[in-house]
Amino acid sequence: MSSQPVPVTIGSAPPPPRTVPDPDPRRGSPLVDTFGRVHRDLRISLTDRCSLRCTYCMPEQGMEWLARSSILSVDEIVRVARICAEAGISTFRLTGGEPLLRRDIVQVVSELAALRTPDGKPVQVAMTTNGIGLDKVITALADAGLARLNISLDTVQPERFAELTRRNRFKDVMAGIEAASRSGLRPLKLNAVAMRGVNDDELVDLVEFALSMQAQMRFIEQMPLDAGHTWDRKQMVTREEILAALGKRWELHPVPGRGGAPAEKFRLDDTDSHVGVIASVTAPFCGACDRLRLTADGQLRNCLFSTDEYDLIPVVRAEDPELNTDERIDAVLRACIDAKKAGHGINDPGFLQPARGMNAIGG
Ligand code: 5AD
Ligand code: SF4
Repeated sequence: MSSQPVPVTIGSAPPPPRTVPDPDPRRGSPLVDTFGRVHRDLRISLTDRCSLRCTYCMPEQGMEWLARSSILSVDEIVRVARICAEAGISTFRLTGGEPLLRRDIVQVVSELAALRTPDGKPVQVAMTTNGIGLDKVITALADAGLARLNISLDTVQPERFAELTRRNRFKDVMAGIEAASRSGLRPLKLNAVAMRGVNDDELVDLVEFALSMQAQMRFIEQMPLDAGHTWDRKQMVTREEILAALGKRWELHPVPGRGGAPAEKFRLDDTDSHVGVIASVTAPFCGACDRLRLTADGQLRNCLFSTDEYDLIPVVRAEDPELNTDERIDAVLRACIDAKKAGHGINDPGFLQPARGMNAIGG
């Protein structure tokens, strides 16, 4: 049953049979796509579940969750990550849904943090979380080797938070952010999706709150990734509008040397503090993308917006030891990278939103 990898196109058509690729002669060499982009960063979604229901991410009700049996175990995740590290992936970012909902989160962090790239350097493990429950596990996470944290925070107003996330958890999030600030893990970043008529009147307040927590505030243009498919370009607050709002309070000095980073950084006045803007829609940064994604159910994606996924399950769960090999996992990785497009195409006329929402892809 060995054959060439076939991308799984999500949609109404019946899925093609799950296949296992032959080993690829490039095994162990860097993951370079057809545009010359070298991949260094794997985003691992640990679960599609979440303790919040942010309006731009999930509908209030009627979410269909991934089957528990399809969720990768720690051993499966770490095995795939090790093969990625052997191919030069040096940063692993844990996402969700909400990664802290995984009961084995500390074990995931500690096993990932023990991985090395081919030059013998330890990898970096980072996490994007909504902050709920973080105060209870942060010491264990830091001890396990977690290097950096991004915490999502769209508002500093408790009532607005409840409306936006449909959950009364503002205090828990604050406790998480304060614990992160105390932990000394740096840089600490807070992420907000800027939304018209929702939080666009408090961009300055968010930055000031972040500064009080010794964190860097970052604003993200809203992307068409909500599970409810309600994205509306007109509702999107653009990079330019974000900069105009902040520019009324601070002089913003662009920081050069962005590399593959999604955020453009600006220094505030003559201070050492910065703010970041992630303009995925109006100023895409696909040309320098070094990221690859693994969903909680074992699908590799070469882009947030791709409609194709590369299935690791038939390899990592194959009973036949001839099929269940590291070499074949590596081959799935390479098939995924080989198919990566130049850009996400959000601004193209024929753009189709991916079937999965952000909670099931990972940020
Ligand atoms: N557009 C932009 N950012 C989003 N996030 C979730 N959904 C979207 C979207 N549609 C953000 C979250 C979090 C990170 C994982 O992604 O706010 O900060
Ligand atoms: Fe949960 Fe993040 Fe989605 Fe909000 S945006 S519902 S915190 S996964």
